Amino acid sequence: MHHQLYLGRVFNPLGEERVEYCADGGILVDQATGKVVTWGRGDDLIISGTEAAEKNGGSFQVNHAYKEMYLIPGLVDTHIHYPQANLLARPGYDLMEWLEKSIFPGEIRMRDPEYARTVATTLLGSMLEAGTTSALIYGVTYLEAMNVLCEEALVKGVRAYPGKMLMDQGAPPELLDASAGQGYEDAQKFIANWQGQGNVQPSIALRFALTSSEEQMRLTAKLLDEHPGLLFQTHLNENEREIAAVAAQFPRSTNYLNVYEYYGLHRSQSVYGHCVHMKDDEVRSMEAADAAVAYCPCSNLYLASGLFNWEQLAKLRVGFGSDVGAGYTYSVLENAKLALVLQKLRGYQVSPAKIFYHATLGGAKVLRNEANVGNFTTGKEADFIALDTSGDFALEAALDGATTSEEILLLLIMLHQRSHVKATLIAGEQRYAAVG
Ligand code: GUN
Ligand code: ZN
Repeated sequence: MHHQLYLGRVFNPLGEERVEYCADGGILVDQATGKVVTWGRGDDLIISGTEAAEKNGGSFQVNHAYKEMYLIPGLVDTHIHYPQANLLARPGYDLMEWLEKSIFPGEIRMRDPEYARTVATTLLGSMLEAGTTSALIYGVTYLEAMNVLCEEALVKGVRAYPGKMLMDQGAPPELLDASAGQGYEDAQKFIANWQGQGNVQPSIALRFALTSSEEQMRLTAKLLDEHPGLLFQTHLNENEREIAAVAAQFPRSTNYLNVYEYYGLHRSQSVYGHCVHMKDDEVRSMEAADAAVAYCPCSNLYLASGLFNWEQLAKLRVGFGSDVGAGYTYSVLENAKLALVLQKLRGYQVSPAKIFYHATLGGAKVLRNEANVGNFTTGKEADFIALDTSGDFALEAALDGATTSEEILLLLIMLHQRSHVKATLIAGEQRYAAVG
């Protein structure tokens, strides 16, 4: 037994509107397993920890490094694009123009595994720097580049759910699977190689309806049948021009989601990115399937995709997605901040507790990993980040006037800056520490 107690101001999300806070708290971690033993008041845990160590002969250490900082669960990014890690804020007015002008040409560079390694390092390093500990990741069609990403994820410890991209039409030929059959074979190979390897858990990623043949969609449904435990990710109802193009390409479908339904891709495994323009019958079908939503506020703003209707999707599992590179920041908290204010424009008031929940435990539910991460329940993985507000005078002054935990949380979200992330720990191991 080697227990370490991390003292700090602990916020623990429990549900949509439920959050616990302890200003002089601590998280007790079993460093051998990387799991949470318990959390609570720091003084109480010092007494019980010392007693237990004396009785059982194990070691017990108190870590004061984050004592004046806020400790929150590691953030969950439910939608990010690996090949776009070096493609933030690229030109393009809306989705279709941006893809054609900037993204498809940029992603072709991933054919070079050496370049891919620099991109993987940027991606994972930037995620850790932003406090992200789990991420559902869209990949590229190239297997070598995908292997590079997984190798780097193992080194960095990030809980990565990467999907080899499936796309066989509607983009430059160099970016596509050689055929639907080849894409299927490569995805099988990728899954077989990486399933069960450390923190890497493969997912299945089909870019969107416009870049897959009917044969590819059918083969992808077969993949989902063969791997019912894996997540499936694709894009849905992001942009009006995209929706019109889908309607033209699939005239028999009643709506966008119906395309995925028709080919057998609409399941409880499915995580749909964006969902900005949803018809009521699509929402009902999402609820019936228990499918999940990746809400990408920064991306929706950058590409002028529209204002996400959270109220309409309130019954669904929803997580935040940075959607880098359409999203211009890796920070899940920046996305959370934007969601909080944008929802006001819709007349939908979301509390700081709800926003915090979706950035953490709610995101873990989208990844179907809430049994292991998302808060500090005993037995979960000790994934947490330390937010240091001490150098931020405006925030410190505002915090001085905050009297409730709800007010503190609102400030931590609204005045969040990536520089507040002082350390990122995964399974009790420090994976990022800010210099200075
Ligand atoms: N739809 C299809 N591909 C993409 C992509 O790379 N980014 C976004 N935001 N939407 C997409
Ligand atoms: Zn996306």
